[in-house]
Amino acid sequence: MTAKLKLLQNGRLSPYLEQRLAQQYDVHFLEHEPDARAFLLAHGHEFVALATSVQAGADKTLFDALPNLRVVSSFGVGFDKLDLNIARERGIAIGYTPDVLSDCVADLAFGLLIDVARSLSASDRFVRRGEWLQHNFPLTTRVSGKNIGVLGLGRIGRAIAKRASGFDMAVRYHNRSPVADVEYVYEADLVTLPRWSDFLVIAAPGGASTEHIVSTDVLTALGPQGFVINIARGSVIDERALVEALEQNRIAGAALDVFEHEPNVPAELLNRDNVVLLPHVGSGTVETRQAMADRVLDNLTAFFEHGKVISSPLTL
Ligand code: 8YV
Repeated sequence: MTAKLKLLQNGRLSPYLEQRLAQQYDVHFLEHEPDARAFLLAHGHEFVALATSVQAGADKTLFDALPNLRVVSSFGVGFDKLDLNIARERGIAIGYTPDVLSDCVADLAFGLLIDVARSLSASDRFVRRGEWLQHNFPLTTRVSGKNIGVLGLGRIGRAIAKRASGFDMAVRYHNRSPVADVEYVYEADLVTLPRWSDFLVIAAPGGASTEHIVSTDVLTALGPQGFVINIARGSVIDERALVEALEQNRIAGAALDVFEHEPNVPAELLNRDNVVLLPHVGSGTVETRQAMADRVLDNLTAFFEHGKVISSPLTL
């Protein structure tokens, strides 16, 4: 029997995924090491594979400590903590888990959109507080037939736009560049999109190029009747600007699954009924997390059998 390939894991993964990885590879948990630096100095050269996640990622220091690394398999679609440039330079393959989570994240985006417009969470709290016994809940905002602006028309953005058509909504989008095979109107200017939108849904990737692009100007353009929904990365919105826009009633509300400093949520948001707050659960269904775990495994298997992962952000 040939020896199992040596795989380093940084950050915890699901019990199912950790068990399956351990069946196939000689897995070593970096976080079990009291002195990770010393461990990597002595043993870093032994590892050919790294299993990681959106939260843990791999920076230059880690890549440098793994001179014989051939493949990284990451749990999640985001790669803002993965240094793709180094991987590219060194010819290290990178696997991630797009596609399999798009539907659940888009479902959640719509859940948030309807929640913030129709005050689902707020009216649930109203019933639980017993306030219905005293008066009716105030009127809310219609969703069907409204304008939805999608910021980032990638896989998840498209899945959101597809759902919007079921609500007879008009869809426009902003993206780094126009998307070839869609009929939605492209807004080249990031401020023009929110001006037109009743709902601005953020589906753009995180990272330096999108940091704080949802700025005071963008929020002001959305206006006092407009709602912002974020299922992408907290870093895309300038959170201070968002708090101010809400406090000054310059936007109607916000529905957020992601935050700049997770799991910390700005205290100013906690008691507002026009804000919906979720703990980063976009992909968090049994079915999707299973599919993501399987993609992590399949990316590794495909690499070691055929020299290529199934899904790589390096080909984007
Ligand atoms: C995370 C996500 O993977 O895929 C992403 O980029 O943000 C999520 O799906 C999830 O939080 C599990 O770590």
